[in-house]
Amino acid sequence: MNPLSHLNRYFFKYRLRFFLGILFVIISNLFGVLPPQIIRYSVDLIAESIQVFKLYEHSSFTEALFSQFTGYLLLFAGLVLLLSLLKGLFMYFMRQTIIVMSRWIEFDMKNEVYEKYQSLSLGFFRRNSTGDLMARVSEDVGKVRMYTGPAIMYGINLIVLFAFVITVMVQVNPTLTLYVLLPLPILSLGIYYVNNLILSRSTAIQEQLARLNTFAQEAFSGIRVIKSYGLEPAYRADFELELDEFRRRSMKLVKVDALFYPLTLLLIGLSTIITVFIGGIQVSKGLISPGNIAEFVIYVNMLTWPVTSVGWVASIIQQAAASQARINELLAAVPDIDLDAGIEVPLKGEISFKNVSYTYPDSGIEALKNVSFDLKPGETLGIIGRTGSGKSTLANLLTRLFDPTEGVVLVDNAALTSLHPGFYRKQIGFVPQDVFLFSDTIRNNIAFGSMAAEADQISWAAEQASLKSTIERLPAGYDTVLGERGITLSGGQKQRLSIARAIIKKPTIYVIDDCLSALDTNTEKEILANIRRFTNNVTSVIISHRVTSVMEADRILVLDHGVVVEQGQHAELLRENGYYASIFAKQQREPAAQLPEMD
Ligand SMILES: Nc1ncnc2c1ncn2[C@@H]1O[C@H](COP(=O)(O)OP(=O)(O)OP(=O)(O)O)[C@@H](O)[C@H]1O
Ligand SMILES: [Mg+2]
Repeated sequence: MNPLSHLNRYFFKYRLRFFLGILFVIISNLFGVLPPQIIRYSVDLIAESIQVFKLYEHSSFTEALFSQFTGYLLLFAGLVLLLSLLKGLFMYFMRQTIIVMSRWIEFDMKNEVYEKYQSLSLGFFRRNSTGDLMARVSEDVGKVRMYTGPAIMYGINLIVLFAFVITVMVQVNPTLTLYVLLPLPILSLGIYYVNNLILSRSTAIQEQLARLNTFAQEAFSGIRVIKSYGLEPAYRADFELELDEFRRRSMKLVKVDALFYPLTLLLIGLSTIITVFIGGIQVSKGLISPGNIAEFVIYVNMLTWPVTSVGWVASIIQQAAASQARINELLAAVPDIDLDAGIEVPLKGEISFKNVSYTYPDSGIEALKNVSFDLKPGETLGIIGRTGSGKSTLANLLTRLFDPTEGVVLVDNAALTSLHPGFYRKQIGFVPQDVFLFSDTIRNNIAFGSMAAEADQISWAAEQASLKSTIERLPAGYDTVLGERGITLSGGQKQRLSIARAIIKKPTIYVIDDCLSALDTNTEKEILANIRRFTNNVTSVIISHRVTSVMEADRILVLDHGVVVEQGQHAELLRENGYYASIFAKQQREPAAQLPEMD
């Protein structure tokens, strides 16, 4: 099936605009074919008048004849002007309907693609690069718009114009029509060939431009590293190389581009010469009038530009079909997790994992093996383990960013998969391991996810996250803008802001993934005390490398290589004198110590 057929429902949606557009194309062309006929009358009138003048030379009659003759000419000129204006007016309407329709379709499609992105699960985003996803929304939709707008408009215009002009031409003189049209297919083919050359060379330029952009972007974002390694000259030289390639490819395009216009002019000239030559013979035979030659020359000129656009329209359609195929592929992707299904229930906060295993589909790494634990509402679970032991994977399963490969996650005794994902996540306060802040004010970054938050709630949340005094020291306070054009927060400040973002939601379950790592011991203690205070009746899962963060939890899970190696309370685990006890001893001696490797 043609990928572009996906667009039919859009054409149907905007059918009124579309049909009006076609109607306007027809009307504008109607007004377009009339002026040459008036010109024919004018030229014939001039020719006849000259003969009549010669007949009545030196008589008093000439003056009256002359004024009548100029009167007619003026009338004809006025008519041509009026018809051209009308044609222009309807061309304006044609653009206003068809091009505007294409912009609406573009709007709808961007929304459709973006909505699809939002519905897809994390796995999809790991499989596709950001650049690819961006290209779908911007470039591919843009190319499809070239089809729904300009290509369709010029295409319809071409058909209507040809139908009108050729009908009129054949009525005047079929032989002359045949000769005049002869060079046009050659022109069409030539343009198609040149156009393809232009296209492939433009693509080469685009590719090089993308490389250049990526290069520059990386150089800017990595400027600290480049400067500290003293690599500026090397990068400059590399950039120059890439730039030179860009220049070379651009020059290749310029050469074909330069060929395009003269080629068109040459063929128009050829058609005109044929018209005058063959037309002259026909006139001498008395088959047509001199006015017909003038008329035909105008027709030839009217047809040439649309003929040049045939090649252009054909390549636009080809490109649009390729782009639409890519978009269709994306639209056909099925999200692993259906965002609209499931029941919406307020949670109490009971969690249990039953023999949960998770294997990352792309890397095949079994990050969790047979993990089981139970947590009552209001209890705190501490999770500790080395780097790569599966702690974040557990947090992601709990927030349902993906579903377990084996086993089940139960929340309030219901399978997590039976709950409505959006409604469930609203009740979860998740502080992910890598903090992401938006280029926006501190206020909006904290209120994120609970946009209706009042100023006092925001400052309350900031206070709980031990961030209030830091923010109030900033000149713009909560209105300070973060990110590329704003200020940069320190690692620990970012973590605290991320905590405030979760706190303000007043969730039923907290999932805090290793967000205290960049904090000094005192701040960590302060935040932990706060968290304990407001998580008193709230189920919370606190993930950390440090024993101090988890030691007061109701239950501690010790993970290693995806397996729960120990489980219990701090005192119990110390009594067991196993892995946990050894970590504790080590971290007591040297607080920043790495967790020991288990064998
Ligand atoms: N997106 C992913 N795709 C493939 N494998 C992954 C992915 N994320 C994590 N893994 C792998 O799964 C294992 C567990 O990773 P996880 O992030 O859960 O560890 P962690 O305990 O949170 O580590 P850290 O303390 O460093 O945060 C690791 O071996 C890791 O390489
Ligand atoms: Mg982690």
